[in-house]
Amino acid sequence: MDLKQYVTIVEDWPKEGIRFKDITTIMDNGPAYKYAVDEIVKYAKEVGAEVIVGPEARGFIIGCPVAYALEVGFAPVRKPGKLPREVITADYGLEYGKDTLTMHKDAIKPGQKVLIVDDLLATGGTVEATVNLIQQLGGEVVGAAFMIELTYLDGRDKLKGIDIRTLISY
Ligand code: PRP
Repeated sequence: MDLKQYVTIVEDWPKEGIRFKDITTIMDNGPAYKYAVDEIVKYAKEVGAEVIVGPEARGFIIGCPVAYALEVGFAPVRKPGKLPREVITADYGLEYGKDTLTMHKDAIKPGQKVLIVDDLLATGGTVEATVNLIQQLGGEVVGAAFMIELTYLDGRDKLKGIDIRTLISY
């Protein structure tokens, strides 16, 4: 299936000059959404994922059905103040300043094989911080899967040594 045809490009959103890749038009098409999830499930089996980790909010949309299909757990990565129990944190750089991501301290067991799933790889900051969180908990990152990669932002450079699978490239 040519998944790219289901992505809607929104010009000048959220600000001028940005061509936003809207994945809601993949999700609202049953066969396209299923295809995207199934492709990542296949990859997850190849790398032997034992748990799926996804950053909020769009990482949940694709990561949760992958975990469900594999009958493995899903561990959410969230912005500060959202998780109710003891958390660990990792900072990542933004264009101006920094942001922080959190995970529950017991979300991953040491030695567990973890697959990171998100909708989009852009600068790689989000996934770099997610790798940091997983490694703090002793998890082994066996791969990272994305529906879309913006290759011109060189996010892969932040993920040296990590196997990456993307379904659509710009
Ligand atoms: C978007 C996207 C990825 C991240 C990619 O999430 O869903 O998680 O940005 O960008 P990066 O590679 O430059 O880090 P966003 O932070 O907008 O959060 P949202 O999914 O809650 O809207």
